[in-house]
Amino acid sequence: MDDGKQINQLKVVRKELTRFMLTYKFALDEMNTKLNILQEEFEHIHDYNPIEHLKSRIKSPESILRKCQRKNIPITQNYIGNHIKDIAGIRIVCSFISDIYKISEMIQGQKDIKVIETKDYIKHPKPNGYKSLHLILSIPVFFSDRQEEVFIEIQIRTVAMDFWASLEHKIYYKYDGEVPAHLIEELTTSANIANQLDEKMEVLHAEINEAKEDKSSESQMDFLPLDNKRYPLPKQLLESLMEKSNKE
Ligand code: GTP
Ligand code: MG
Repeated sequence: MDDGKQINQLKVVRKELTRFMLTYKFALDEMNTKLNILQEEFEHIHDYNPIEHLKSRIKSPESILRKCQRKNIPITQNYIGNHIKDIAGIRIVCSFISDIYKISEMIQGQKDIKVIETKDYIKHPKPNGYKSLHLILSIPVFFSDRQEEVFIEIQIRTVAMDFWASLEHKIYYKYDGEVPAHLIEELTTSANIANQLDEKMEVLHAEINEAKEDKSSESQMDFLPLDNKRYPLPKQLLESLMEKSNKE
C-alpha cells in the first residue's frame, strides 16, 4: 500500500475512534446532568447533599483493547460497544449507606434509563471485603441523524468504602495481583473497621435527622393558633389587606 493510501486509512480510523469515544462522552454528560439535578433537588428537600463527590471517566482506548484481549472479545466497534459495558463510568461517593440506595432508586426510576445489571457488593461483599453498589445502565444519546443506547457503569459507595477500595487497588497493583498474605489479612480487617464506621455513622445520621424533624415541627408551632383565634396570622394579614384595598 502506498503512503498516501495508508495515511488516508489512518485518518478514517482516527475519525471513527473519535466518534466512538465521543458517544461515551455524551452519555456521561447526560448522566452528569441528571445527577446534578438529583443532587440539587435532594439538597433542597432534605437540606443536605447526599453526594460527597463524584467522578466520571472514559476508559482509554489502550485499556479497552487490554480488556478485549483479556475477555477474548473481537476488536470491532460493534462487539466492543455491546460487550464492554464500563467504557463510560461514574463513581458516586456518599456519606451514608442509606444515601447509596436512595440515589440508586432515584436513578433507576428515570424513564429513559434502562437498568441492565445490578451488583450489590454491599449486601454481598467480595471475599476481600470490597463493597459498593454497581449499576450497569443504558441511556439514549440523541445525535443529529440517529439515536444510540449507550452503556454506563455506575459505582455508588460511602467515603469509607471508597477509602478502602482506593488503597486495596493501589496494593493490588503494586504487587501485581500477588499480594502477601499478611497484607490481605490487614486489608480484610480494615474493611471490617470501615464497615463498622459506616454503620455507626448511619445510626448517628438517623438520630440527627430525627432531632432535625422535631426542631422543624417546633418552629412550625410558632405559626399555630394562639388563644382561641383559629387563624391569627392569615386573618390579620387578610384584614389588613382588605383595609388597604378598601382605602384605595
Ligand atoms: P471487570 O471485568 O473488571 O469490569 O469486572 P466485572 O465485570 O466482574 O465487574 P465488577 O462489577 O465486579 O467490577 C467492576 C469494577 O469495580 C472494577 O473495574 C473496579 O473498579 C471495581 N472493583 C471490583 N472489585 C474490586 C475490588 O476487589 N477492589 C477494588 N479496589 N475495586 C474493585
Ligand atoms: Mg471494569
